[in-house]
Amino acid sequence: MNISIIMAAGEGTRMKSKLPKVLHKVCGKSILEYVINASKGADVEKNIVIVGHGGDMVKEYFKEESIIFKTQPIGEDTPYGTGYAVMQAIDHIDDNSTVAILSGDTPLITKETISKLMEYHNKNGFQATILTTILEDATGYGRIIREENQEVLKIVEHKDATEEEKQIKEMNSGIYCFNGKLLKYALSKINNNNAQNEYYITDVIGILKDEGYKVGAYISEDSNEIHGVNSRVQLSFSEKIMKDRINENHMINGVTIIDPSNTYIEDTVKIGRDTIIYPGVSLEGNTEIGEDCIIRNNSRIVNSVIESNVTIESSTIEDSKVGEYTQIGPYAHLRPNSNIGKNIKIGNFVEVKNSTIKDNTKAGHLAYIGDADVGHDVNIGCGVVFVNYNGREKFRTTVGDNSFIGSNSNLVAPVQVEAWGYVAAGSTIVEEVPEGALSIARAAQVNKEGWVEKKGYKKSF
Ligand code: UD1
Ligand code: CA
Repeated sequence: MNISIIMAAGEGTRMKSKLPKVLHKVCGKSILEYVINASKGADVEKNIVIVGHGGDMVKEYFKEESIIFKTQPIGEDTPYGTGYAVMQAIDHIDDNSTVAILSGDTPLITKETISKLMEYHNKNGFQATILTTILEDATGYGRIIREENQEVLKIVEHKDATEEEKQIKEMNSGIYCFNGKLLKYALSKINNNNAQNEYYITDVIGILKDEGYKVGAYISEDSNEIHGVNSRVQLSFSEKIMKDRINENHMINGVTIIDPSNTYIEDTVKIGRDTIIYPGVSLEGNTEIGEDCIIRNNSRIVNSVIESNVTIESSTIEDSKVGEYTQIGPYAHLRPNSNIGKNIKIGNFVEVKNSTIKDNTKAGHLAYIGDADVGHDVNIGCGVVFVNYNGREKFRTTVGDNSFIGSNSNLVAPVQVEAWGYVAAGSTIVEEVPEGALSIARAAQVNKEGWVEKKGYKKSF
């Protein structure tokens, strides 16, 4: 059986945050989520996460996920260190298992690399294998000490290293593979006699080597993958690499991204072929975009479904649905639960909330459509307001098919405009507009002839 132990109990002091480090997000997903997914993707059956600092928040965040949590006791007098973290999982380690130890703070690790590490470990008959990489500057990391014959001897932490050892460029990624029985055995032998008074998982390597077991290292070519997040600067580095990976994937799958360095697409988003994404666009959450769409500059789309052939310009769309061939923006705002049909136009400065709008309807300029059910082929003039709120409660408005709502009208909910109802510009509608009727609800116009001259404002015409 394959087991993984993911260490995520550390405080993450350098993040300077109320949030546990592993819950900070990279491209919309928590750091730890990437590690768990990579582990599961590498066919690991049993995934154990060691939590400690902020452990309740971490457990709550992953309550739906099938993982085993073990809590590392945290306190002034309790032991600390990566070795102590792994000890918490000891009851779950079967003797004949292959155990991958992963760091909860390395979001860029891939399932392929974990699989390759396990394969290398098993194929070569190692009892312990370290994932390493070569870094020009390995400051801060543990260094891999090799014997003259190049076999791995041990790992030395930066803080415990001699000047000579600090020159070594092969670094410890913090990711390992072990034989279950020997891992348990070596864990019982580690101590905290080191510069940090911590129990180091890294010491397990030297212990096994000393006792004649076969210890190896798998050198990863991509050093980005093992980049850990200890600070917000490192968080932004992970964000950049992850963003590039996501954007590259979409481009490979047939999406045009005009300026990838300026386009933010979260890991959860799906996009159809031949869609074109302009700079400054942010696509978030469970957003799905169809084929042949054009998403122009500075649009933000969150948890929404956009069907094919839609054009969106400089607009915000949240938790909504947009049908085929519809045009949105510039500067429109679809607030949650807006269900916009096909071939619709939602133009400049139009806000829609909790409303359904059927096919071919147009609201071209400066309108608020809130809590409404609008039919097909309706024209909503400039400046129309759906007055949905009386200060205490909200009410709905219904506008039937083929209606025409003249500019600068108010529809005071609850109210209904029946099919083919016409509302004259500037009306405040508080009662039903019957089918096919024209409603004029404004003061009748009075023209006072010669008024200006009588007042003496202007002498002659
Ligand atoms: C560790 C390695 C170092 C390696 C580096 C790679 C040790 C002693 N050192 O150092 O050789 O080069 O990773 O990134 O292992 N954690 C716990 N409980 C603890 C302490 C830490 O769960 O008591 C967790 C942290 O939350 C983190 C992971 O273990 O996810 C690594 O701990 P961290 O303190 O970041 O180790 P490094 O100093 O980076
Ligand atoms: Ca680290």
